[in-house]
Amino acid sequence: MAAIIARGLTHGYGEGPVLRALDLEVAAGEVLFLMGPSGCGKTTLLTLIGALRSVQQGELTVLGHALHGVDDAARVASRRRTGFVFQHHNLHRSLTALQNVMVGLEARGQSRLPQAEAMCRAALASVGLAGFEARRQDKLSGGQRQRVAIARALVGGPQLLLADEPTGALDSTTGREVMAAMRSLARAQGTTLVIVTHDPRLHEAGDRVIAMEDGQIRSMRKEFAL
Ligand SMILES: Nc1ncnc2c1ncn2[C@@H]1O[C@H](COP(=O)(O)OP(=O)(O)OP(=O)(O)O)[C@@H](O)[C@H]1O
Ligand SMILES: [Mg+2]
Repeated sequence: MAAIIARGLTHGYGEGPVLRALDLEVAAGEVLFLMGPSGCGKTTLLTLIGALRSVQQGELTVLGHALHGVDDAARVASRRRTGFVFQHHNLHRSLTALQNVMVGLEARGQSRLPQAEAMCRAALASVGLAGFEARRQDKLSGGQRQRVAIARALVGGPQLLLADEPTGALDSTTGREVMAAMRSLARAQGTTLVIVTHDPRLHEAGDRVIAMEDGQIRSMRKEFAL
């Protein structure tokens, strides 16, 4: 089954299209890396897949639900099934790690479950942060913060995780650790991952690496030369 199907996806902000009749298919459970030069449309594509923008032209189906020609309610429902990790995580500085992860569960409509806290603790443990539950966000290192962001994005088992330069602010060792944490949690939950990163050293963690250029998918390769 395909988690994402884009057909002829075209999108622009006024001055000519940024995405030009882009076609893409991502299998359920796949770990896909997306690369390409600055401004080629990677973030635009992620925000469309994540239902953070409406589709202008073409067809986009995510987790079996069409996102073209749908209303706000359908986009909200799609966002509930999706986790997001960005380079500059929007974690609350004054909340603890556990509270920040709970925010993710709230967004997924699951924070009132009796097992909600246990789910958040398990998510933190799976990214190597057992014991840090009560630590305030502003008392954590950059890598630890990003791992909290990953736990928040993946708690409650979203079927899809979209990550835009999730390790961009980290040194390479921490970046690799954060990537490994994201991948193992996603694998355990069967989550499809689409990750934008410029760092080719991280690509070995993926099933497939694709390159974008001029608003289209330019190449796909299974293996990436280091
Ligand atoms: N909200 C916006 N309003 C107007 N133009 C935008 C907007 N967002 C992106 N663009 C333009 O669309 C093009 C693609 O931007 P996008 O952010 O998708 O690129 P990107 O591949 O993610 O780049 P980077 O690697 O620098 O993050 C760029 O030319 C950018 O200036
Ligand atoms: Mg971008």
